[in-house]
Amino acid sequence: MPTAVEVRDLKAWFGKTEALHGINIAVESNHATAVIGPSGCGKSTFVRCLNRMHETIPEARAEGQVKVGGMDIYDAPAVDVRRKVGMVFQKPNPFPSMSIYDNVAAGLKLNGTSNRKTLDEAVERSLRQAALWEEVKDVLKKKSGASLSGGQQQRLCIARALAVDPEVMLMDEPASALDPISTAKIEDLIFELKQKLTIVIVTHNMQQASRVAEYTGFFLMGHLVEFDRTEKIFTNPSDKRTEDYITGRFG
Ligand SMILES: Nc1ncnc2c1ncn2[C@@H]1O[C@H](COP(=O)(O)OP(=O)(O)O)[C@@H](O)[C@H]1O
Ligand SMILES: [Mg+2]
Repeated sequence: MPTAVEVRDLKAWFGKTEALHGINIAVESNHATAVIGPSGCGKSTFVRCLNRMHETIPEARAEGQVKVGGMDIYDAPAVDVRRKVGMVFQKPNPFPSMSIYDNVAAGLKLNGTSNRKTLDEAVERSLRQAALWEEVKDVLKKKSGASLSGGQQQRLCIARALAVDPEVMLMDEPASALDPISTAKIEDLIFELKQKLTIVIVTHNMQQASRVAEYTGFFLMGHLVEFDRTEKIFTNPSDKRTEDYITGRFG
């Protein structure tokens, strides 16, 4: 099984507080891995360590090894890392004053692409991959990112992340602010995206984890308690704490 992300003894701090206590995990390529666990257990911190976003918080630091496609991300320039590992957040955050087109093209422009045809093609490809093209193709430069509905804004953010051709996409509760129809669209999208890249998705929703992810990791108080095939986690977990969580005894 090819590994897209390999994490060894990853620890993370906020100031003096240790939020992750030595995480080891191998994320399989071209699959979706769900990260579940109660609020505050370190899910967001974990995924933010996978593209060096964690260290952008003042006083925050990480230790250990994270390899993406064989590259040690803590030994590489952060801009290269974030190009390889895209991220989508809970609350859609398009650049509000930019057009739809410019939102999607932003990352490429930042990386120095200015050729109009290259940009046009990347924008169309990314919007198609994000299942948004048909809805916006006639207003690409007329409408701003902020004029779209919440679900469309989230797909725009996915398109923006896809435009630079990442190997891994981190999604931190990407549908928790969306209505059920928009949520279903995002879940459908995850199936399509897996053909091309690897997904790590934080979700509060255990049904969502079982629908979209082949693998699931259960976090508790900064530890990865159990990591296995999703079906195993939800039907026959090995750890009592996982069982208590999935059966609703806490969290
Ligand atoms: N910016 C921050 N500064 C200080 N502590 C933080 C910060 N963000 C999160 N934490 C703490 O780190 C722990 C893990 O948080 P987080 O990764 O956000 O959990 P989750 O995403 O599972 O809800 C929690 O105890 C939380 O209070
Ligand atoms: Mg979180």
